[in-house]
Amino acid sequence: MNRKIFEPIEIRGMKLKNRIGFPSFLNHPGTEDGFSNDLTVRWFEERAKGGAGLIMTGAVTAGVPRQARRAGALVSGFLGLFDDKFIPGFAKVAEAVHQHGARLGVQLSGIGGPMSGRGPSLPPYPDDAHATDDLFYVVGGMRIPTTEITIEELEQIQEDIAAAAARAKAAGIDCVELHCAHGGATLHNSFISPYYNRRTDEYGGNWEGRLRLPTQTIKKMREAVGDDYPILVRISSSQLLGGRGVTLEDTTRIIVPALEKAGVDCLDVSQGDMIRSNEGILISLYYPRGCFMNLTAEVKKATKLPVIGVGRIVDLDMAEKFLQEGKADIIFMGRQLTADPETPKKYFEGRPEDIRKCIGCNGGCGRPCTVNYDLQDAPIPLTKAEKAKKVLVIGGGVAGMEVARIAAVRGHKVTLIEKDSELGGMVAALALNPLTAEFQNIVEYLTTQMRKLAVDVRVCKEATITDVEEMKPDVVILATGSLATVPDVAQGKPGVMTHGQASKNWRAIGQKVVVWGLFGAELAISLAQEGKDVILLGRGGEGSLGSDLSIARRWWLFRKLTDVNTPRAVPEAVKLSNPKVLFNVEVEDITPQGIKVNVGGNTERKEVLAYDTIILSRRFGERKSNDSLFDELQGRVTEVHKIGDCAEVRGILEAIHGANEVARKI
Ligand SMILES: Cc1cc2nc3c(=O)[nH]c(=O)nc-3n(C[C@H](O)[C@H](O)[C@H](O)COP(=O)(O)O)c2cc1C
Repeated sequence: MNRKIFEPIEIRGMKLKNRIGFPSFLNHPGTEDGFSNDLTVRWFEERAKGGAGLIMTGAVTAGVPRQARRAGALVSGFLGLFDDKFIPGFAKVAEAVHQHGARLGVQLSGIGGPMSGRGPSLPPYPDDAHATDDLFYVVGGMRIPTTEITIEELEQIQEDIAAAAARAKAAGIDCVELHCAHGGATLHNSFISPYYNRRTDEYGGNWEGRLRLPTQTIKKMREAVGDDYPILVRISSSQLLGGRGVTLEDTTRIIVPALEKAGVDCLDVSQGDMIRSNEGILISLYYPRGCFMNLTAEVKKATKLPVIGVGRIVDLDMAEKFLQEGKADIIFMGRQLTADPETPKKYFEGRPEDIRKCIGCNGGCGRPCTVNYDLQDAPIPLTKAEKAKKVLVIGGGVAGMEVARIAAVRGHKVTLIEKDSELGGMVAALALNPLTAEFQNIVEYLTTQMRKLAVDVRVCKEATITDVEEMKPDVVILATGSLATVPDVAQGKPGVMTHGQASKNWRAIGQKVVVWGLFGAELAISLAQEGKDVILLGRGGEGSLGSDLSIARRWWLFRKLTDVNTPRAVPEAVKLSNPKVLFNVEVEDITPQGIKVNVGGNTERKEVLAYDTIILSRRFGERKSNDSLFDELQGRVTEVHKIGDCAEVRGILEAIHGANEVARKI
């Protein structure tokens, strides 16, 4: 088949070797002062080596140091281009990327935007009635104090961005991109949007006024870089806020023609608003893969310029399909190339089964990444073992499989014993919930690698001390997971099951379900969507909902389960009436008549909740490590390690990373 993904493409003289790219990701390494260093070079080179044709930097600050530092304080790291002294560092990054036949682009952003405390107009946005839609307010109780930016500052910002573009060119970087997307996260997008911009001067008032900042900036960038240099612009196709924000129609009818006229060469199309509808940007696993590409396709219809599509695309066959359908000319993959920077290379080499797919957890997305241990500043290097050892891994969850994988890659002879009939442990069980089905990606990847690396896997076998003694391993690694503890009040009561048991056996779950523990929010939602009558209750208040999850996932849960205002443009975000959620609850007794609870908070009351099933979904602290073999093995084998929940009950990231820390040293 003729694959479009392999085809080169040219953007104003910049030749890309294929149609896959890495979008802007802010959390690349850099120094405190915004310089690139060796870690920055490595970060970009990894992706270039992995086969992507175009690699973008995260938003690079073009303004003066004082302002840059202020905006930079909101992010983990930032790179600057506000002075010529940054050119040599960027030149090194460009050289490293070029060595692998890829192109490097710099995304430029003006200091400001309501998220960094400088708005086109003063809050509330868009008005008092809807001001509570603010992500930082809902999730963190924080309102960002915002002042109005002046015309003099706007003029300076345009000059700064143009000067930074010229520096990018001087550093040998192949293109620049103006960051004009993500609503309140950027100055340029917040100026376009009537949601944030109520100015009456020449930078507001109507479309012409609101588009003045981006279009003038692009013209100034063009003057600075000349006619032979590509300028990209990143836009949000829709602010995803219905009529109150920028709509898809506004974009295709007004914004795209204006940007084209101003002289851009390519449209990099994202969607959403970082503060108000970040489901369009940090699209979590709750959303289908590639779910916003239909919006991008409409932008593509409205322009002759090349269009880049992005958004939870983790599968290169899907990327190929979007290219074939003409929905975009280039596909960017951010979190996927973070989970596995070699994704394009493995695909091009015809070994897609070796691609470690992103699980959409948003649990770091770079430094660190949940599934990719190597993506941090100082990983333990993966080297061949000095002496091949006999390694026995007990437990085939993700920690056990990852430790087995790394040990096998290093040349050890590995046996893995699992008591269940299938591998994957707790993560595989959680993946049976449709909302977190993407967790299956890591289970599938590791299971495949067990086969490819000839790990001797023995399922349906509970390892005993005798087995271990007979096998005479040099090293034993315990990855036997954790066990749920059952509170006294629930001991021996009918209908009680653990979260893990419920996940593995949905058919055993009755019609009237009480999910005990806010950790079970995702399970409660899925069960309600299956038509069951669900009550989700927890000891914590609203603020503890999703407190162990990433901001994007928490935001989604808040919208689904609490009274937070929800923009109606995003149907998936509308509040559900089932499950019913009770916060600040103490369970007092469980009787055949129901669960007696004391609901605290402002309106303290007692309730009896009818149920046929109680699912114990309490937090990590209420599970305990299943490590009984550890003590028994002391003195019988020379080296014993515990990893994953068996060492300490935590999440997938700690399981995978902990496994690497052990396997890279044995
Ligand atoms: C950690 C992180 C940092 C990001 N930083 C930027 C940024 O600086 N500029 C930008 O335009 N988008 C940024 N994005 C959005 C990504 O470029 C991309 O649009 C988004 O991750 C969706 O693509 P993906 O599903 O392939 O990851 C960031 C996303 C993440 C997760």
